[in-house]
Amino acid sequence: MYEGDIASVLISEEQIKQRTAELAAKVAERYPTGAPEGDLLLVGVLKGAIFFMTDFARALPIPTQMEFMAVSSYGSSTSSSGVVRILKDLDKDIAGRHVLIVEDIIDSGLTLSWLMRNLRTRNPASLEVVTLLRKPEAIKVDVEVAHVGFDIPDEFVVGYGLDYAERYRDLPYIGTLDPKVYGG
Ligand code: PRP
Ligand code: MN
Ligand code: MG
Repeated sequence: MYEGDIASVLISEEQIKQRTAELAAKVAERYPTGAPEGDLLLVGVLKGAIFFMTDFARALPIPTQMEFMAVSSYGSSTSSSGVVRILKDLDKDIAGRHVLIVEDIIDSGLTLSWLMRNLRTRNPASLEVVTLLRKPEAIKVDVEVAHVGFDIPDEFVVGYGLDYAERYRDLPYIGTLDPKVYGG
């Protein structure tokens, strides 16, 4: 699939599965079940987080509920600008709920930083983040991320939800994109 477009496999399907199970076990310890605040609420950020969200939810040994937000940052398709707009908002009120934002990747951190500020104004009981990937060298803003799957180098990666121009999300692994694809 996508013959010649993927330069290398950075994180295999098996590694993703393994790390997701570890993250789920660690996250589950933080949230009491049967709390008056209700089940943990996972807020997935469309579209990139969908694959991680569904695998992570199934790996968690505690009951969760799921909501989704779609946000878009203006700018080029390989880097984000920090200007964020809501394409799809949450369907439900999150006041008093334990909320865990689920992201596929933190690149500059601008999307997440904006999102956390936005959700905090809605007064959740708690607000934390789990992300499968993070690029420490690309971070532009100070954003607190409680749970990180993998720190990766500042390369353009695709697969397992991550796209380039909406392609490659359906790859089951994280791969680096051959620069020829984006004219590099
Ligand atoms: C990507 C990715 C994160 C965000 C990270 O989403 O899924 O949500 O960018 O970038 P940042 O840390 O620099 O803000 P994108 O806006 O491409 O939308 P998508 O999830 O629909 O692909
Ligand atoms: Mn995204
Ligand atoms: Mg994208």
